[in-house]
Amino acid sequence: MVDYKSLGLVNTREMFKRAINGGYAIPAFNFNNMEQLQAIIKASSELKSPVILQVSKGARNYANQTLLRYMAQGAVEYAKELGCNHPEICLHLDHGDSFEICKSCVDFGFSSVMIDGSSLPYDENVALTRKVVEYAHQFDVTVEGELGVLAGVEDEVQAEESHYTKPEEVIDFVTKTGVDSLAISIGTSHGAYKFKPEQCTRDPKTGVLVPPPLAFDVLDAIMEKLPGFPIVLHGSSSVPQEYVKIINENGGKLPDAVGIPEEQLRKASKSAVCKINIDSDSRLAFTAAVRKVFAEKPGEFDPRKYCGPARDLMTELYKHKIVDVLGSDNKLANLE
Ligand code: G3H
Ligand code: 13P
Ligand code: ZN
Repeated sequence: MVDYKSLGLVNTREMFKRAINGGYAIPAFNFNNMEQLQAIIKASSELKSPVILQVSKGARNYANQTLLRYMAQGAVEYAKELGCNHPEICLHLDHGDSFEICKSCVDFGFSSVMIDGSSLPYDENVALTRKVVEYAHQFDVTVEGELGVLAGVEDEVQAEESHYTKPEEVIDFVTKTGVDSLAISIGTSHGAYKFKPEQCTRDPKTGVLVPPPLAFDVLDAIMEKLPGFPIVLHGSSSVPQEYVKIINENGGKLPDAVGIPEEQLRKASKSAVCKINIDSDSRLAFTAAVRKVFAEKPGEFDPRKYCGPARDLMTELYKHKIVDVLGSDNKLANLE
């Protein structure tokens, strides 16, 4: 059993409380490799932002769970080295799909886990989520549950259609399960193709797709039922068109990739939405930078020469999200 506190990590309880009261959201950035982790820690440390390092089941298989634990511990030390004396870093399991994987993460030093029972019948979701909460809370590990279904296709997360969270279910779910935060569905979705072209309009000047707005009425109804309760938004990448353009101009093929406009995420950050999940934007930044180097310097074969620029572009992306979208800069409890 590895105690996350001994690794210098924190759970989400205090960071969420302060985020709701302060009208901002905590960034939850997924990582699979060293460059992504370096970029996340550099951006969050320099900007004095709390941060959630998110690991999916696929990432855990890709990177190895022992290595991940030491990477998270190393991240805390790296943050200090960068001049952030009191970092607030949470290591979180993203989309845990069974009690066993959640337990294994709790036992392995994670400070927070998500149990995603959103595809199960309601009563089974409640029972599974409650079981995870009962286990995790013994070790002061916080738990995120989910109600409602997000559309999108990723390695480990698949759903053809989204179903908004039903506001009439949220009190019962939160009370019966004891979760610390609730992921909801209000129109976001996973991946770089969040909407079909027929769901969008098209900007006549640029030809870029303009997606339909998020269901803020559903969010309002949920917040009315659960005043002050931490709400989470998955599938919140904005799919920056400048990255899509670089990718497409340098041998890639991402036609009609579209994400969630940042103004809508900014608006959500000011509400009880206190955790916003971003993965695809980092993948796009990484890919754009690598494709550019390969196109401009076909003779390059030193990974540092293309992973380095990718890391720089991701750092810039994370900083932008922290300052301009989530508003979590300078929000550490101890800024000294
Ligand atoms: O929500 C899904 C995350 O973007 C993780 O994706 O399962 O491909 O690692 P992944
Ligand atoms: P994106 O695919 O929009 O980045 O969403 C990531 C996510 O929700 C991780 O859980
Ligand atoms: Zn997700």
